[in-house]
Amino acid sequence: MPKSFYITTPIYYVNASPHIGHAYTTIVADVLARYHRMIGEKTFFVTGTDEHGDKIAEAAQKAGITPQEYADKISAQFRSLCPELAITNDYFIRTTDPNHIETVRYILQKVYDSGDIYFGSYGGYYCFGCERFLTEKEIVDNKCPEHGREPQYIEEKNYFFKMSKYQDWLIDHIKNNPDFIRPERYRNEALAFLREPLEDLCISRPKSRLQWGITLPFDQDYVTYVWFDALINYVTALDYPDGEKFKTFWPVAQHLIAKDILKPHGIYWPTMLKAAGIEPFQHLNVHGYWNSDQSKMSKSLGNIVRPLDLKDKYGLDAFRYFLLRDMVFGLDSNFSEDAFVWRLNSDLANDLGNLVSRTITMAVKYCDGKVPEISSREKKSALYENALKTVAEVEASFNDMSLHKALIAIWDFINVTNKYIVENEPWTLGKDPANQEKLTAIMYNLLVALRSIAVLLQPFMPQTAEKILRQIGIDESQKLDMTSIKKDDALKAGSTLTRGESLFPRIVEEKESKPSKGKASMIDLKPEIDYEEFAKVDLRVAKILTAEAVPKSNKLLKLTIDIGEERTIVAGVGKDYTPEELIGKNIVVVANLKPTKLMGVESYGMLLATDTDKGLTVLTFDREAKTGAKIR
Ligand code: MSP
Repeated sequence: MPKSFYITTPIYYVNASPHIGHAYTTIVADVLARYHRMIGEKTFFVTGTDEHGDKIAEAAQKAGITPQEYADKISAQFRSLCPELAITNDYFIRTTDPNHIETVRYILQKVYDSGDIYFGSYGGYYCFGCERFLTEKEIVDNKCPEHGREPQYIEEKNYFFKMSKYQDWLIDHIKNNPDFIRPERYRNEALAFLREPLEDLCISRPKSRLQWGITLPFDQDYVTYVWFDALINYVTALDYPDGEKFKTFWPVAQHLIAKDILKPHGIYWPTMLKAAGIEPFQHLNVHGYWNSDQSKMSKSLGNIVRPLDLKDKYGLDAFRYFLLRDMVFGLDSNFSEDAFVWRLNSDLANDLGNLVSRTITMAVKYCDGKVPEISSREKKSALYENALKTVAEVEASFNDMSLHKALIAIWDFINVTNKYIVENEPWTLGKDPANQEKLTAIMYNLLVALRSIAVLLQPFMPQTAEKILRQIGIDESQKLDMTSIKKDDALKAGSTLTRGESLFPRIVEEKESKPSKGKASMIDLKPEIDYEEFAKVDLRVAKILTAEAVPKSNKLLKLTIDIGEERTIVAGVGKDYTPEELIGKNIVVVANLKPTKLMGVESYGMLLATDTDKGLTVLTFDREAKTGAKIR
């Protein structure tokens, strides 16, 4: 029997449109679902919308439409966000769905019949943002710290769930199951709540005050409190109580939420389940908050980050990558577009994009455009060993929900692969046919590495993974999973290699570099960079072999250079140098710059020069330099 996996996101309130925070949770859930499917587990992934309660009734009233119309409109936005973000949810639940209403009423009746719901009176401070009564401790300076508004004192007769009865059981359960709530900081937070006596939970609202909710099965004059209604979605989606899905997936249920709703999920929900005679879920995974401009996102601050704006501007996979890489699971993160662009250029365009394009270009050139055949002894390269190590690291990261670590491990492997190219210099081997066997083995190992990278990236960046696979001749019908990385027949000899478009074009913006807190300087320096960033620039000694003017341009020269291999570069030095003057010079070029087209001529590098009062002067050497040597 394959293992099963069930993952849920919170169901989002329909009082406001989706923002980057909602997108983040849903994308993390998607990565988990894709990964678990990929390792062969039977997977069910649910997201949806939470549509009852004061908040929605209030928002609908403001908009001058009925709560149902309002809910339909915003729920549709959350639903359509899923395909836009390549979310592979198996089900989208709405709390206004008839089957959900039925399930809520079923559970309420069950708990009522068992004597855990009673009628009583309660007075307390209610926060409409949180949709719950706050305890004295939770009120800071007369306000709810989460919503910045004053809670209202409300006293009324209501139904209560005997939550206090389950306090000791819950403490024991959390203590006996260390990863019931994770990471640990949130487990500790839940245990801290439980150090205070737990009050019973008010689970109804009189219809005289609120009609927009599920009518209690045992009292027509009351609707169900929105949290008691909403949490139940997690079992409705599995056709509780009799559904097959419930049998398969409930024992492995994992919820994913942000820290804002820890209390309902960590305290209310397990006690509700206990009272209803349902086993507790397996894990509650809690992540931190995305802030924007160092503060909480809010309409009034005007700093709400909209996921679709970013996706449209930079591409879906870049957006997914940034969110997953930049947030340490469990901690808060600050969203900044500068940091996004910086990562896109550095990790995606430079590291991954360049690796793919140069590997495919060389493989097409040196292996006749096909995956070459090599002996199995040569397949066990250091690169292959490294791929296995990466698989183990990625698996471990998924097991403890630290997805950013999985990406760090994959990028370590990408960089090891880039280094393998530099160390083996295929272009040097390619000069002598006697090296063909060695060159073929190197190219094969590089293609296998690309395949491993694509497989590992699949859950995170599905479109990119597919583009890489297509370039190395693997079509969608071929089953890809983690175990396939471990097989040494991962690539079929003879498959056609195809050069694709650049995976991640560099974003050129003034704000491209990472904000720096570097030493103040009198001259206008760019922001500080780490040595590692500098080391990414591959500077080489280049000998100019030929030079000619680019037709119709008064400034551009087309140069053929030798940097250990022959290249064409286009340089804007035509006003300051004649072609003849340049031929034979040893100059400095940036050799790993993405190719670009200038006046119709493809340029594979850039020479270095500086402005003087008399025009440009090209950087050369004052002693003999070795062609192709690295510049440090
Ligand atoms: N309807 C309830 C959840 C009921 S679940 C049974 C609710 N909805 S919500 O629309 O407010 O969504 C809250 C969730 O959205 C957070 O727990 C988190 O998953 C996501 N996020 C909303 N804002 C966020 C950030 N700024 N940062 C990260 N995630 C955030 O609460």
